[in-house]
Amino acid sequence: MSLPSNSGKETTDPVTHASDTNKPPILIAIDGPAGAGKSTIARQLAARLRVPYLDTGAMYRAVGLLAMREGLLPPYSEGQGKRLGQLVQRHALDFRPEQGGFRVLIDGEDVSKQLRTPEASEAASAVSAVSAVRRALVPLQREMAAKNGGVMEGRDIGSVVLPDADLKVFLTAASDERARRRHAELRGRGVEAAVAEVLASQQKRDMQDSSRADSPLQVAAGSVVIDSTQMTPDQVVERILQELERRRAKPLDTPGGDAVKSRNHGRLAHDSGLPVEEERF
Ligand code: DC
Repeated sequence: MSLPSNSGKETTDPVTHASDTNKPPILIAIDGPAGAGKSTIARQLAARLRVPYLDTGAMYRAVGLLAMREGLLPPYSEGQGKRLGQLVQRHALDFRPEQGGFRVLIDGEDVSKQLRTPEASEAASAVSAVSAVRRALVPLQREMAAKNGGVMEGRDIGSVVLPDADLKVFLTAASDERARRRHAELRGRGVEAAVAEVLASQQKRDMQDSSRADSPLQVAAGSVVIDSTQMTPDQVVERILQELERRRAKPLDTPGGDAVKSRNHGRLAHDSGLPVEEERF
């Protein structure tokens, strides 16, 4: 894996410590449903904090693409599940966090663009429900995070991959707004689809991602829940930076620290309509 040049926007944010060698690299987990704006926010945040942007969805998309190429289509039998898990070892998967993006190479071929089609989205959702695939990818994700820290986005980052992240964010937005954003994004890349079609596919993926047995999408314990329906990306990034600063200023055992925040978390998480992971104290 290659690492980013760290030449992102210079900042004097007090929360930045990427260049301070005495401190462990900063880790931020961002989870949420499809189309909530995770990629935009995670990229901007990573640039502000000068840490790598780590897109775990792209890793599941890479396995989904390999599955399509090998004719492995859902629903998967147990044997197929095992084969899917082995794809990660059988192919050279190169995940490269880089300035403003996350490039993926399979056996030397840059597939980053191919990962963004609606078919690749469906395939990623299907393979991500297979435990053998998750068992193969989660250690790679932890390894990337341990190397230089980062802003990691996905579905199980706060709950499974990085439960001890410096900050866990659950980013959501109203379903029709998420579909509208995804539609605009697809159109920007020259992919034409009706909004209703995008909404239906999004609902199917949300259902699959939050109802699977292994590492379902859920609000991780201790997460800040942000509903971005009425917010600009800049506002969301500022909100997260403020939260990061606030938490770093207030240790866990002081009044007004995490205990109070957790009560808030319960209320907000309930509003999100998604399952909430039990608090770990
Ligand atoms: O974030 P995305 O749309 O690129 O993710 C593609 C699929 O991968 C999505 O359906 C959910 C799944 N995924 C997952 O199960 N766990 C992650 N950490 C990231 C993505």
